[in-house]
Amino acid sequence: MIIHENYFLKALHTFHIPVYAKYFAAFKSVDELQEILNDQNNALTQKLILGGGSNILFTKNFNGLILKNDIGGIEKIIEDDSHVYVKVGAGENWHRFVMYCIANELAGVENLSLIPGNTGASPMQNIGAYGVEIKDVFHKLEAFSIADRTMQKFSADECEFGYRQSVFKTRLRNEYIILFVTFRLNKVPVFNTSYGAIEQELEKMGVKKLSLKAISDAVIAIRTKKLPDTNIIGNAGSFFKNPEVPQRQFHELQQNYTGIPGYKLTNGKVKLAAGWLIEQCGWKGYRKGDAGCYDQQALVLVNYRNASGDQIYNLSEEIKQSVKEKFNVDIEREVNII
Ligand code: FAD
Ligand code: EPU
Repeated sequence: MIIHENYFLKALHTFHIPVYAKYFAAFKSVDELQEILNDQNNALTQKLILGGGSNILFTKNFNGLILKNDIGGIEKIIEDDSHVYVKVGAGENWHRFVMYCIANELAGVENLSLIPGNTGASPMQNIGAYGVEIKDVFHKLEAFSIADRTMQKFSADECEFGYRQSVFKTRLRNEYIILFVTFRLNKVPVFNTSYGAIEQELEKMGVKKLSLKAISDAVIAIRTKKLPDTNIIGNAGSFFKNPEVPQRQFHELQQNYTGIPGYKLTNGKVKLAAGWLIEQCGWKGYRKGDAGCYDQQALVLVNYRNASGDQIYNLSEEIKQSVKEKFNVDIEREVNII
């Protein structure tokens, strides 16, 4: 076990902000994690779990211990007539797991292709894209309680999943380290192509017969066009969540802004497109120093090279306020701010 001091984090998160962690340790097994936590010096230190760093904005150095979860492994554990259950180590790259499913004809995660980050963060965020969320294929997870030093299991209900939300992002934030996630994949696929531009992309690709691979390829093509490559331009995907407003407010907005996108939800509210609201406020393509609002997708804030975390955060605050002033709509940050 090595605990590094003053560890440079720039390469370990996708906004690439040059910040340091006071202490840093990576673990590849539960035993290694126990060993780090048993270290006397660490007992009272503030802790942060790090996966692929693709949903974090550091606005300052982290004055505690960063625990980098590198537990790997993808293992088929059981199957029944219609499902295969696959257990995945939290440190596995998410897209590698999606590719495993496609290679093994296991359906359910193909629409979630190319989402950056690790599998351990996927239930924390309830990651979603193109009409699918991981709650749809989630079976259970095993997490380590930092306070009790015990392993605990969480069912889907216990995870309290919501839109980009779970109990690990709210009530139990920073209390548990997710170590293994088990997914329930379908043997017989139910293709989901209705969302966004998937159908157009499949047509463009000349796909005649749907397959998991074809859907995955279409999603990858759309994402590659729309979202910046984190190796070139620092970002963490959508910076804000899409806001939900009461129907009455949506109708009022429609009267003033023809063409405003809105998606009716089962809870009676309407989900607005934050990217559209931000673009209407004139931010799309805006750049101040090296902090900016991406010119292909206004919901993505970017670090062109040397922006500080504060500069990105301050830009997000200006954007949030202008959306409030123009539309009287509150937009909530999706990215975890440290
Ligand atoms: P990190 O950024 O390392 O951590 C995120 C949070 O989870 C932190 O608070 C961290 O402390 C906590 N955490 C991480 N691992 C664990 C663990 N094992 N146990 C407990 N807590 C943990 N997201 C979507 O949902 N849909 C998208 O379409 C999407 N597109 C994206 C596109 C781009 C270009 C980028 C950069 C990001 C995108 N994201 C998207 C956001 C991001 O990929 C996801 O939120 C992803 O799940 C983050 O995983 P990570 O391992 O990088 O998490
Ligand atoms: N739009 C604009 N201008 C923009 C961006 C978007 O007008 O600059 C409009 C689009 O025209 C469209 C609507 O907004 O009508 C929705 O846009 P898009 O399909 O690009 O999706 P999004 O709502 O911006 C969400 C997720 C993404 C996910 C995609 C695809 C959130 C916060 N974001 O983005 O997730 O990949 O849908 O399902 O829900 C992430 O969480 O990091 C992320 C990238």
